[in-house]
Amino acid sequence: MKAGILGIGDALPPRTVTNDDLVAKLDTSDEWIVRRTGIRERHWLSGEETLADLAAAACTAALADAHKGPSDVDHVLIATITPDQLTPGLAPAVAALAGIEDAAVVDLNAACTGFLYGLDHAAALIESGRAKGVLVVGAEALSRITDHEDRSTAVLFGDGAAAALVGPVSGGIGLAGFEFGYDATLAGLLYAERDERRLRMAGQEVYRHAVSRMIEASERLLARAGVTAADLDYFVAHQANARIITAVADALGVPHERVSFNVELTANTSAASIPLGLAAAQRDGLLAPGALVGMVAFGAGFVWAAGLTEWKDHPVTAG
Ligand code: ACO
Repeated sequence: MKAGILGIGDALPPRTVTNDDLVAKLDTSDEWIVRRTGIRERHWLSGEETLADLAAAACTAALADAHKGPSDVDHVLIATITPDQLTPGLAPAVAALAGIEDAAVVDLNAACTGFLYGLDHAAALIESGRAKGVLVVGAEALSRITDHEDRSTAVLFGDGAAAALVGPVSGGIGLAGFEFGYDATLAGLLYAERDERRLRMAGQEVYRHAVSRMIEASERLLARAGVTAADLDYFVAHQANARIITAVADALGVPHERVSFNVELTANTSAASIPLGLAAAQRDGLLAPGALVGMVAFGAGFVWAAGLTEWKDHPVTAG
């Protein structure tokens, strides 16, 4: 039995924050932010809004996209570094809000790489027969751990949630494989302390490592799968910075029209960035069933991952 993505859904907070909104509060400019990052706007949660509500809306949308319901889900895995509370995690509240009554529910923390870890875990659960339907969610409220006075990071982050339903597929390659890696010696370049609760980043160094690790992991994955970048119908790299995405795509040889630049509208949403990119691409008609999709992420740890999937083909409808 293979596992594949059966549905995708996303949810963004209603409040949009443009670069010009930030210019009013910070020594920055729309021109600098667009040229250095490709970001034009981001969404931030407002006062009483919860990340759990946003993530539950993404789950409901993913189930609708797959033509499934809450009773088809027996595991909910939520990748996040910004749950509404330190504990409990997001997963129990999100499952309850989404109407899922009987499920294993857990949060994962692998920073920006969390969604790809979630997909890998979900595939293992499905392939081993231990689960019938797994919601893998990336959900972040990075605005709540951003230093809004520091222009070098205040412009970079956004909030959002997106979910994929993973289930059995009867043919094709499904969730075909993953590459993972980490380097804990560089943890001090990107972190948030428990007490300060603000993301701190050595931007240029993170940039350099992000580019080289995402290229390396993608190349290893493609070689192992016996395909080339030319075979990819679509490519979603972690949406942190359009220059990073461009550097990775160019090194691999993926044409830009097959590459997600969703960062323009969401900024960096850490674990939510890849599923948000997939959901946007499907909405824009860029992901036909059977498309070969490459994904790659890099974040705090450092932890990185790459994954390959066939898009929503061959779902098992009975049993
Ligand atoms: N507006 C105007 N000027 C700014 C701003 C701003 N918002 N921020 C920094 N500057 C200035 C700096 O002060 C510096 O000025 P100086 O030359 O007078 O000292 C100049 O711009 C250049 O700063 P750099 O930091 O060198 O700019 P860079 O081109 O490296 O871009 C950035 C910074 C966007 C942070 C980039 O380094 C980056 O994207 N890094 C990687 C981020 C990343 O990949 N994160 C991934 C994981 S993080 C996560 O996902 C949670």
